[in-house]
Amino acid sequence: MELSDERVLEELSLSGVSSSLISLADVVRKQSVGEFVYFRGLIEISNICNKNCFYCGLRKDNLNLKRYAMTEDEAVEIAVSMYRSGLTSLALQSGEVKSDRWVEKLVSIVRRIKEETKKIDIESGKEPEGAGITASFGELEKEHYEELFKAGAHRYLLRIESSNRELFYKLHPEDSNHSYENRIKCLEWLKEIGYQVGTGVLIGVPGQTEKDLLNDIRFFQSFDVDMVGMGPYIEHRNTPLYVWHRKEIESKGFYRRAYELTIKMIAITRIIMEDINMVASTALQSVPGCENSLEMGIIAGANVVMPTFTPPDVKSSYNIYNKRRNLSLKEMVERIEKAGYTPVLDRWGDPKHFLKRE
Ligand code: 5AD
Ligand code: SF4
Repeated sequence: MELSDERVLEELSLSGVSSSLISLADVVRKQSVGEFVYFRGLIEISNICNKNCFYCGLRKDNLNLKRYAMTEDEAVEIAVSMYRSGLTSLALQSGEVKSDRWVEKLVSIVRRIKEETKKIDIESGKEPEGAGITASFGELEKEHYEELFKAGAHRYLLRIESSNRELFYKLHPEDSNHSYENRIKCLEWLKEIGYQVGTGVLIGVPGQTEKDLLNDIRFFQSFDVDMVGMGPYIEHRNTPLYVWHRKEIESKGFYRRAYELTIKMIAITRIIMEDINMVASTALQSVPGCENSLEMGIIAGANVVMPTFTPPDVKSSYNIYNKRRNLSLKEMVERIEKAGYTPVLDRWGDPKHFLKRE
């Protein structure tokens, strides 16, 4: 359902979240994608990153972080045991390393996961479909995306972070390694190759206006994406963005605003884009001072959650922002059911938006 620019701006500028907006989003959600919430088991393969995004704790210049990269066997083993336990869709994530050698390893992981999980299907007398695989490894070469797709990844997440070019360069250094145009080009390649494509933005970052957020939604629409993942900005103390804007970030109401804007952005995006998949992100679940943000995200229209299956010994090193809260699969299932929605673990849950376009 279309909403005018004026209406969107009015909702975003309001202090608080209007219950009529949330109710409308929930009606649209139930009509278009139902009461289901799909799970993606998240495996954070490596925290090594060659980028220097000003807001993120994994940035290359953060020397205070223990870096790790799983072996192929480790990653495949986690995926296979997840699949055996009945969770059939997974998401592989890492910092960005644009090298043939690194991508070869990722391709091999994807291929092996696909093969192993198909074997499990055959053992249990099912059609060999294997795991649904979402990849999120940042900006790579087109050939890399093609190889990953051929190996069996069929969804790719690459957030634009902000569709406002000027703000993009306040969040990223303006150098050859951080290019707004290249990010757009990557999104176009992913679409051409045939991936289900997801993008998204950071919400509540210093310098961002309601108008920027409206334009972000218009960007999702014009790009006709299948999936959206948005989350509030959360501080990481060892990053330039925090140091530059410390006063604002520590001011009263900063996180409340980021949280409320995220909930409103989810609701408005659900109303306007109806049948896409949208995640209640880990950042949303981690927003300081808010205990029921998972439920609020779901009620506002999110229909995907991503519990992490990264082993505890390395999980703490995937420190994108401080005080990350990781709910277990069990906890998520219980809370989603309690809120009146239906958790789905044993189906891929592809975005209807993509299936309709095919
Ligand atoms: N707060 C919230 N989200 C962040 N990300 C990176 N740093 C932060 C932060 N400080 C998000 C980015 C990126 C994803 C891997 O994590 O949007 O796309
Ligand atoms: Fe690297 Fe992604 Fe963090 Fe940027 S946001 S520093 S690309 S992990």
